[in-house]
Order: sequence, then structure tokens, then C-alpha cells
Amino acid sequence: MIIADLVIRSGKVVSSDSVIAASVAIKDGLVIAVGDDSAMPQATETLDARGLHVLPGAIDVHVHFRDPGYPHKEDFASGTAAAAFGGVTTVFDMPNTIPPTGTPDALAAKHRIAAEKAHVDFGLYGLLGEDTIEHVPEMAKSVIGFKLYMGNTFGKIPTPSTGGMLEAFEVVAPTGKRVSLHAETNSIMERRETRMRQAGRIDPLAHIASRPAVVAVEAVSRAATLAEWTGARIHILHISSAEELRPLREAKARGVEITGETCPHYVLLSIEDYARFAGVIRVNPPVREARNQQPIWNALADGTIDVIATDHAPHSPEEKTRNDIWTVDCGFPGVETQMPLMLTEVNAGRFNISDYVRWSAANPAKIWGLYPRKGVIAPGAEADIAIVDLIREWTIDDAKLQSLSKITPFHRRRVKGMPIHTLVRGRFVMKDRTLLPGTRGWGRPVHAIQNLPAPHLRNIDQTMKMIVRVGETVRPRESVA
Ligand code: NCD
Ligand code: ZN
Repeated sequence: MIIADLVIRSGKVVSSDSVIAASVAIKDGLVIAVGDDSAMPQATETLDARGLHVLPGAIDVHVHFRDPGYPHKEDFASGTAAAAFGGVTTVFDMPNTIPPTGTPDALAAKHRIAAEKAHVDFGLYGLLGEDTIEHVPEMAKSVIGFKLYMGNTFGKIPTPSTGGMLEAFEVVAPTGKRVSLHAETNSIMERRETRMRQAGRIDPLAHIASRPAVVAVEAVSRAATLAEWTGARIHILHISSAEELRPLREAKARGVEITGETCPHYVLLSIEDYARFAGVIRVNPPVREARNQQPIWNALADGTIDVIATDHAPHSPEEKTRNDIWTVDCGFPGVETQMPLMLTEVNAGRFNISDYVRWSAANPAKIWGLYPRKGVIAPGAEADIAIVDLIREWTIDDAKLQSLSKITPFHRRRVKGMPIHTLVRGRFVMKDRTLLPGTRGWGRPVHAIQNLPAPHLRNIDQTMKMIVRVGETVRPRESVA
């Protein structure tokens, strides 16, 4: 007779297409049964989930945990504790650390740090820049995907030329890994920022004036062209404008392997909030005019945008409150507030809770090859679960955040919906709003469970043959350059 480790009893179990009243049995970290409570096996432990919703833990594909490099902003322990409080059971960490995660050594070092400190599961991005192309084949073995910065942002990562980007896509495409793009075109922003500074502008709105939506439109269009040419899979991070939806839609319609993401701040905040939050709201891409919000919501609803992530980007209060906007560090924490903010919209009737699970868990798992092991509560899946009280009303208080960075533009916002318990592979890491001792180091890397088929390679063969012919003993990027 099977004895489960845990049965979560009589909650409402949510998937991307249904909500059912059911119990969930867990053994050895896996879900072994979902169904009527009377059908559950005996269990060592039970949790009464009556009145609560049982969701697949969110997979936040865009966080900056600053480790190694900026221990005063965040590290893997504080960042993943914040994730656990936010109902987030897997995070994908960005490479703009010190050193950047752009070599096999830096990647191995970050893997060691994360394995030692993480409370939740993690994937690591490898940095894709002109200087790191040669490392792609080796890094591909232990990254969840690659990150390419088309525009400058925190950490001063150099922006590759279009030629460098094409070559980078050519080299990544055969690995099947996805390239996540910070899609803002640097040369446009640089010129405009220079003009603003020359004119003496140092106010918060100068930031948005230097990054009009055309920077994203141009970048998304160009990235889609290169992805179409090479067959590389790409993901457009943090979509902030109505305008960039057009090139994204068009690329999807042509069959480009492209996906999109937005973040809570682009649909819940607007230019009106700059007066109140000043530098705190400075983020790349910028929070824009309110007219962008509804088109982005619509794009989520119609599948143009696939994913909600957070761009969790912690900085210290001092770094966020400087007077000269150009000296304020960009970004703010979000991994902990995303789920309550979105559940508030569920409660307001903007979309249903299955839609939310599709954007926060199921789609991320599918896009990065983790589904159905993650992203769903079903027999055989890993028991990554957020148990939420959907009707609990509370006020976000920066001072109470787990993140080391206790400064966000969501401070004092009323929300309805709270993660009460978070399980990662069957183990409570957060229970009754308390981080459980002994869970540091419980997080495991997820790249190993990817099982993506090789992508359809379009013009790669031809280019690769050319590379081989030009320099038999030379590495690809040198032979092409
Ligand atoms: C991010 C950061 O601080 O690392 N900042 C931001 O404004 N989004 C970098 C990034 O994601 O572009
Ligand atoms: Zn980011």
C-alpha cells in the first residue's frame, strides 16, 4: 500500500484550463494523485486546504539575484526567499552579475552559489554577447537559455552589433536553447539621452523621453528578422508598449519561434506614477503612458504575449532615490508581489485564475522545455505548488519584503490574494508566511530536465558550411568576423 508524504486536502486545484475541487497527494517530491478526497492514499502529513486555491508554483523567467557581485542589493538566499513568499517555485536568473555569466567558469561558479543558497529551483541564463559566442556550445550544457542585451541597462553589458547578433543566433540555434532579449535599440537611446542631458533634463520623465517605444519596435522587428533567418528561438522580455505588439504578432504569424513577456508594472503603473515614485519607478524599458495597458492585457488574452514575469531588479534605497535621474539604478523588486498583484486582477474580474496559471506557470514551463514536469499539478509532475487565499485582502508594505531591496512602486498598494504556503518538489519552503528552516540549498537547477527537440534550422546549414570552409581550424566567430 502506498503511503503518501503529504495530502493537500479539499482545495481548489487550478490548471491552465480548469479549476476543480480536489485533493493532491505527494510522494518523493512528485504529485502521485489528484482527485476526490475519498480516493486519496493514506499520508504521513495532511494539510487542510478548504477555502484555498492550489496553484502550480509560478515560474518567474526573469529575475536578477545579483549573486555574485552585489551582496548589498540581493543574493540567492534573499532572492529565493522572496520568491517563496511570492508563490514562485522556479526562477531564471539573469547574467548581469560580477562577473557576467558569460564563460563556463562564471557559469559553474554561479551554479555553486545557487545550489548552496537557493530555497526554490533555478535556471541560469548565459550571457550572449560578441565576446561570449565562442563559449555557447559549452555553456549550452548548463544554462536554461541565453540572454542578449540589445540595449544598455544596469551592469553596462556591451550591446552586440547586428552582425554579432546574427552570428550569436546562428551558434545558439542548433543547441535548441532560447535567446531572451532585452529588446531596446541602444543607438537610439544613447543619442536621445545625450540630447536630454545637454538640455539639462535630470527629472524622472526624461528617462521615458529618452526611450520612446520606437526603440522596442525597432529591436523586436530586427530580432524577429534574425530569428527567422536562423531558426533561433527567441523570447521578447518585458514588453512595455502597444506598438511593439505589432512586430511580435507579425513574426508569430510568419512562424518565427518567438514568445513574449510582460511584467506587472507595465500593466498596473503608468506615467502618472512618476510624480509619486520618482527614481523608484525608473526601470528599463520604462513604465509608459496608461494607453499602453489595455493593449498589453489584450495581447495576453489573445496569446500574443505568453508569459508574466517580473524583471525582479533589486537596488538599495540610496541607489533608487538620487536626484539626478540618470544616476538612479534601473529596476525594482517584483518576484514577491507578482502573484498577489495578478490575483487582485483575477478578483476584479479582468481574467480568470486559469488564465493566470497559463501565463505564470504553464506557458513558461512549455516554452523552456520543463512541461509537464513543472507548470502543472498532475500525476508525475514535480510538486511545485503555491497555496493561496484568494480572498485575503492586505496592503503591500516594502518594509516587510524578503528581498534586501525594500523599495518598490507597489508600496502601500491594496491587494486581494495571498500565497499562504509554497512547496518546492513536495517540500514546504514557506508555510503560514514563514520561511522554513533548513530549506536553504533545497533549490535545484532545472536545465537538466529540458527536453527540447532541435529547432527547425533555416539558413544555418549554408552559413555553417561557409564557416567551416573559410577556417577549418578557426572557431566560428573568428572565421566570420
Ligand atoms: C535590470 C537590472 O537592474 O539588472 N534593470 C532594469 O531596469 N530592468 C536590467 C534589465 O533587465 O534590463
Ligand atoms: Zn531584467
